[in-house]
Amino acid sequence: MTVKSLIELVGTHTQLMVEMGDFAEILHWGLPVKGNIDNSRLALQRPVPYGRLDNDVAMTLSPELGRGVFSSPGLEGHRNGQDWAPVFVITQITPQEEGTVIVSEDAKAGLRLTTELFLDTFDVVKTRHTLTNLKAGAYQVNRLANTLPLPARANELMTFYGRWVKEFQTERQALPQGGYQQENRRGRTSHEHYPALVAGTAHFNEMQGDVWGFHFAWSGNHRLRVDVKADGRRVMQAEVIYLPGEVSLQQGESLTTPWLYASYSHQGLNGMSHQFHSHVRRSILPCEFAQKPRPIHLNTWEGIYFDHHPDYIMAMATQAADMGVERFIIDDGWFKGRNGDKAGLGDWFLDREKYPQGLAPVVAHVNALGMEFGLWFEPEMINKDSDLFRTHPDWLLAVDGYDQPTGRNQYVIDLQNNAAFNFLFERLDHFLSQYNIAYIKWDMNREVVQPGHLGQAAAHQQTQRYYQLVDKVRAKHPTVEIESCAAGGGRIDFEVLKRTHRFWASDNNDALERQTIQRGMSYFFPPEVMGSHIGASHCHSTRRRHSIAFRGLTALCGHMGIELDPVKESADEKQGFEHYIKLHKMLRPLLHGGRTWRVPTDDQAHQVHAVVANDLSEAVVLVAQLAMPTHALSGHLRIPGLDPQATYRITVLDKPSNYDDIVNYQPPWTESGCELTGDWCESVGLTMPILDAETAMLIKCEKID
Ligand code: DGJ
Repeated sequence: MTVKSLIELVGTHTQLMVEMGDFAEILHWGLPVKGNIDNSRLALQRPVPYGRLDNDVAMTLSPELGRGVFSSPGLEGHRNGQDWAPVFVITQITPQEEGTVIVSEDAKAGLRLTTELFLDTFDVVKTRHTLTNLKAGAYQVNRLANTLPLPARANELMTFYGRWVKEFQTERQALPQGGYQQENRRGRTSHEHYPALVAGTAHFNEMQGDVWGFHFAWSGNHRLRVDVKADGRRVMQAEVIYLPGEVSLQQGESLTTPWLYASYSHQGLNGMSHQFHSHVRRSILPCEFAQKPRPIHLNTWEGIYFDHHPDYIMAMATQAADMGVERFIIDDGWFKGRNGDKAGLGDWFLDREKYPQGLAPVVAHVNALGMEFGLWFEPEMINKDSDLFRTHPDWLLAVDGYDQPTGRNQYVIDLQNNAAFNFLFERLDHFLSQYNIAYIKWDMNREVVQPGHLGQAAAHQQTQRYYQLVDKVRAKHPTVEIESCAAGGGRIDFEVLKRTHRFWASDNNDALERQTIQRGMSYFFPPEVMGSHIGASHCHSTRRRHSIAFRGLTALCGHMGIELDPVKESADEKQGFEHYIKLHKMLRPLLHGGRTWRVPTDDQAHQVHAVVANDLSEAVVLVAQLAMPTHALSGHLRIPGLDPQATYRITVLDKPSNYDDIVNYQPPWTESGCELTGDWCESVGLTMPILDAETAMLIKCEKID
C-alpha cells in the first residue's frame, strides 16, 4: 500500500490540508486548525456504503473515471481511440514557496499530469494542470479541467449573468442535486457568463457565512460547474471549452490550463472580496504603476463618436484640463476610413482627411495642458470594407466556404497567422513609438463565430495569441498603460488584468444601472481597476436622466473619468464635473487603496458602499438611493470595518442639491456631523436620511481619538 502523507498550505486565515498518496486529495479547506494533523487524519476517513463500489473513492484534484469517479472527470481525451481512461500516480512532489507542484504519471497511457497548487498570504488559492504527452502518437485532448472540492455544507450559490450594457448581474440560487453549469462559447470572456461564482453555506451574505469564491482566469470559452455527487460530496470545476479537434498533443508536447483562483472566507462575501482584492493588488496587477495615482480620464466616445475635427478635439482637451482631467483619450474614429461602424477596422493609419496636420499637434496640445494622451484601438478586428481586407481577405478567423455572421459589421483577424499578428504589432508599435501615448484603450466589439485557422478550430489559440500580442506590445512599451474593453465589460478577468491596468466596466454610463454593475464587479475586483465615467445627463444607453450629483458620486467610486463633450456642457454641469473630480482626487488614495465593504442595509432600496483605510484612520461611505424608500423611515446606516475602540467624526461630504426640500427635517447628524465610536457605527449606526430615488450622498468618517 502506498504510504500517505499530509501537507499543509497555510494562508493568513485559511488552510489547505492535502493528502498525498497515489493521488492528491484536499481533505480540508477552511479555517486553520491546530494539532498533529497526521493523528487527526483518522477523523476524516469515509465509510463505504452498500450499493456502490466496494472501495472508498477519493475526490482528487483531477477526478478519474478509472478510479471510479462517476462525476465529471478532470481529463477527457484519447490517442486514436486508446489511452482514454488514464489513472495517474504521483511520482514527484516538489514543495514551493506558498505551494506545491505534484507530478503524476500514467506510464501505460503515456501521460504526465503536473498540478500546481498554491495558497498565498491573502488566502487566495491558485491551481492549474499541465498535461504532457509522453508517448508516440498524437493525444487528442477533449477536456482538461481544474477541480477543487467543496464541503457538503456548501449548498447555495451566487452566480453571474449579464449582457451588453447590463454586466455583472448576480443571482442567488440553491445548489440543486443536479449541480450547476455555465458555458461561454462566445470567444471572449463575455458579458453573459463572467467566469466566476461563489458557493457558500445556507443564507451566506455580505457579512456572514462560509463562502468559497472561484475565478477562472481565462478570456475565451469556458465551462464552470459545481457538481453535487450522488453521495452528497461537492466539487467545483473550471475549464476551457476546447472545440472539436482543437488540442492535439504530439509526443513531448504539453497543454497548460488557465489558473483557477479561489478563496475561502468565514466572513461572508466581504471577507472573500477583501482577500481577492489584496491578491489582485499585490499579485495580479502589473506592478510598474502600483504607486501612481490613477489619472482622471476624459474619453471622447460619447462626446463626438466618429465626428473628429482636431481643432474641436483640442478645444475639448482645453476644457477637460480646466476641469481637472489628467488623461485625454481619443476613442474610435481617428483612423483611415472610419466614419461609422461599417468600415475601416484594420486600417491602422491616421485618417489624413480628418487629421491633415497629423496627430502630433493634438498630442502636443494635450501634453502641454499637463494631461497624458491615450488612443483607442481594436487590433483583433477587421471590416470587409477596409484596405486590409481587400489586400488580405485570407486573414479572417473563419472556416473557408462558410459565410459567418458579422458582429457590429466586423470580423475577427486570425492571430495565428503570423503575418497578420506581425502587422498588428507593427501598427501598434508605430503609433506608440511615434507619439507620446501613455495609454491605449484596447477594444473588442464582437463575439467569435467559427474561429478557424487553416480549417481547424482555433478558439483557444486565438485567446493565447491575443495575450501574446498584448505582451509583445507591453514588452516594447512598458510604460504604456492598457485598458481592456470589449464593448464595455466583455473581457474582464484576472488573466487580462495581468497585462492591463483598467477595465471599461460597461458601455452603460447610467448611474442607476452602474450602481448594480459596479457592485457585481466589486466581488472580485478592487475599485481602482473599474473604469467609471460621468456621462451626459441624458444617458445614451438608457435615455434616463440623472443629476450631476448622482452621476458624480457613482463614478467617484471607481477609476473616475468623464465621457461627454465638455464644450457643449452648461456652466452648471461643468462646475459639477470639476467638483466631483476634485472630490475624487482628494479621496483617491483612500478609494483606491482601502478596504471595500458592501454594506448591508435595512431597506433594499438603498445600496451602500464603504471604503475603510487600511490603518482604520478614515472611511468614506456612499449611500445610494436606488428606488423609492419602502417605508417613510429607512432604518439605520451601520458602517462596518472601523476601529471599534476609536472615536470617529462623521460628516456629510456631498448630498443632493434638494436635500432639505422634501422633508420637515432630516436627521440632525447629516447637518452638524457627530462623533461616534467604531463599534457604535457598526452595531447601532445612524438614522438614515430621506432621499429621493436615484440620488446619493457621501459620508466621511475620520478617526479623532
Ligand atoms: C465599445 C466601447 O465600449 C466604447 O467605449 C467605444 O470605445 C466604442 N466601442 C468605440 O467603437
